[in-house]
Amino acid sequence: MAVTAAPVSDEALRAALATVNDPEIRKPITDLGMVESVECDESGRVAVTVLLTIAGCPLKDTLTKDTTAALMKVPGVTAVDVTLGVMSDEQRAELRTNLRGGAAEKEIPFAKAGSLTRVYAVASGKGGVGKSSVTANLAAALAQQGLKVGVVDADIYGFSIPRMLGVEHKPTQVDEMILPPIAHDVKVISIGMFVPGNQPVVWRGPMLHRALQQFLADVFWGDLDVLLLDLPPGTGDIAISVAQLIPGAEILVVTTPQQAAAEVAERAGAIAVQTHQRVAGVIENMSWLELPDGSRQEIFGSGGGQTVADSLTRSIGAPVPLLGQIPLDTTLRIGADQGNPVVLGEPTSPAAVALRGIARELGTRSRGLAGRSLGLTPSGR
Ligand SMILES: Nc1ncnc2c1ncn2[C@@H]1O[C@H](COP(=O)(O)OP(=O)(O)OP(=O)(O)O)[C@@H](O)[C@H]1O
Ligand SMILES: [Mg+2]
Repeated sequence: MAVTAAPVSDEALRAALATVNDPEIRKPITDLGMVESVECDESGRVAVTVLLTIAGCPLKDTLTKDTTAALMKVPGVTAVDVTLGVMSDEQRAELRTNLRGGAAEKEIPFAKAGSLTRVYAVASGKGGVGKSSVTANLAAALAQQGLKVGVVDADIYGFSIPRMLGVEHKPTQVDEMILPPIAHDVKVISIGMFVPGNQPVVWRGPMLHRALQQFLADVFWGDLDVLLLDLPPGTGDIAISVAQLIPGAEILVVTTPQQAAAEVAERAGAIAVQTHQRVAGVIENMSWLELPDGSRQEIFGSGGGQTVADSLTRSIGAPVPLLGQIPLDTTLRIGADQGNPVVLGEPTSPAAVALRGIARELGTRSRGLAGRSLGLTPSGR
């Protein structure tokens, strides 16, 4: 029998594999050292071995499917056999170093001078005003705009973000590094993912600080454009921890139109004076209910958002805008319960329109240079 060369070149196969991203790390599997071998026989049948970061990786089916699809697109390929292996300890260590750009571990990337990630801490005085709903929807809307978005659910006691964003699986742990699950293109991490079932978490201040530090430093976030932190209600320890861990984080204050809520929200915002943080703006939620005849019923009164914005402008001495007013809307609540944010599921509903407007405003703000390194050091790399 005559020896026939494989009908497909090695380069073509590698090029196709370079289009396959690891579903969690979101980088090409070829860059991550995950392709152990790839070969094509004379009939066009490709055998490829892909190394998982850890055994039992929850997304191995996605990886198999994506790898097969990419290779099948190469002219001459007739069939693909994917074999999954697992990285050795050395390969994993190499991957970790590679992902961190050779940097020492345990740094908070967002706190470094020159970080291009805008960090917004979503805060309120009163509970139940819609912080988590606003966080989840802004995250989904910003991701839909094409930005790379992460969310930290920093509400250790009342975590609700995973449900609102419909995160189904737990983070994957590669030794000391945590790969956040991704839902609606948003990387999400929550204490809720680390406690079994619906158990209450009883943690004191220093432990909260440590947990937040871990979420920020040990989680592989990649290059994010925006990181949103959903804070617990009030002006507690966690707000101070955020200020210490990411001094450049800006605060988004959520309030209802009610004057009593507004007063408490002002206190939450005014903490920025002590921590020297910027308040990016105020978001009024539950502003009104649109009635079938088009009129607005102001269930919680009116003016709270503007009052907070004006009073923070005075106390901080810098303009604090009212970024938007979000009406009461059942589709928002239903979307949250179903893990499908209203900005994606019902984008034309009144609440979604308001939320998308706020996201557009936040998404197009560029970072100010105040207090930031101008990066004048020679870039030798
Ligand atoms: N604009 C809105 N229209 C209808 N329902 C809303 C709206 N905003 C929030 N909700 C509902 O109100 C409840 C409280 O909202 P959410 O959990 O977002 O508030 P929170 O400020 O994060 O609360 P907590 O202080 O407990 O963390 C949720 O059930 C949510 O679905
Ligand atoms: Mg909440």
